[in-house]
Amino acid sequence: MAKFPTYRPRRLRRTERLRAMVRETSLEPADLIAPLFVTFQDGRHPVSSMPGVEQTSIAATAEEAARLESLGVGAVLLFGIPDSKDAHGSRAYAADGEVQRAVGAIKEQAPDLVVITDVCLCEYTDHGHCGLLTPDGEVHNDSTLELLARMAVSHAEAGADIVAPSDMMDGRVAAIRQALDAQGFSHTPIMSYAVKYASAFYGPFREAAESAPQFGDRKGYQMDPGNVEEGLREARMDIEEGADIIMVKPALPYLDVIYRVKQDTGYPLAAYHVSGEYSMIKAAAERGWIDEERVMLEAVQSIRRAGADMIITYYAGELARQLGG
Ligand code: PBG
Repeated sequence: MAKFPTYRPRRLRRTERLRAMVRETSLEPADLIAPLFVTFQDGRHPVSSMPGVEQTSIAATAEEAARLESLGVGAVLLFGIPDSKDAHGSRAYAADGEVQRAVGAIKEQAPDLVVITDVCLCEYTDHGHCGLLTPDGEVHNDSTLELLARMAVSHAEAGADIVAPSDMMDGRVAAIRQALDAQGFSHTPIMSYAVKYASAFYGPFREAAESAPQFGDRKGYQMDPGNVEEGLREARMDIEEGADIIMVKPALPYLDVIYRVKQDTGYPLAAYHVSGEYSMIKAAAERGWIDEERVMLEAVQSIRRAGADMIITYYAGELARQLGG
């Protein structure tokens, strides 16, 4: 390699146009996925722990989707807040559920947007866990699979472009793939939350989605933050079961995991820049301690640089506006 003074790295840093020409990482609005919270209620309801994020009615969700589409955002990821919860999460797979109806409304107002639906029971169960409980309060893996498969099929029937299981039950990708194929949805891709950690960074989301577990925690099904080899096994396993896109979640504290999973699998990779990551930036910016626009761009660019093809972020709209203008 050339040495100083033959090589002067600063030569290519002199103007913004020059820097842009040699920038190794690109970020486009189309790479971004915006999470949306569809509520059974009318109107818009701000989430106090996530400034700028709202729970929205079906009509308001469709309006929001149309706005995101016009900014060039690639996709939305839908979560539902049902009017009633029970032990089996039965509103999760109801044809007239909030998410199912919202998919139709979005397809009318924003036909080009990719609509992804979150497949998990925690917003729909009265105990707030991601699966069915045994009498002694354990989350039962195998009996949950059938319900997740029903939920995924009901989303596909409603017109979802991609289903995204986030429950972390073993074997759910295979169960969902089989059910989709059997019902004529062999072309509906599965974006699997394959490498999902039991993370404290989900705190604000649980207010947004009203999905906090009523007892215990999720450490019995989500991954331990100390592990990465296990994440590679999870990713390979989901690919064998039929996953089309692999997700790593959270993102910034797990950039090494994103890098390794991408290198190891070569599969399309989504990274979820989660609620706590978003709220930390918002909180510091509100205090005037950081420059929000620059920090959000740098955060999302780092996730992309680590190897993510697409990024799920609550900043999708703001970033798309910044990138577009
Ligand atoms: C549901 C789910 C969670 C998130 C996405 N899907 C919460 C959890 O597992 O407790 C978190 C997203 C975020 O924090 O932004 N299983």
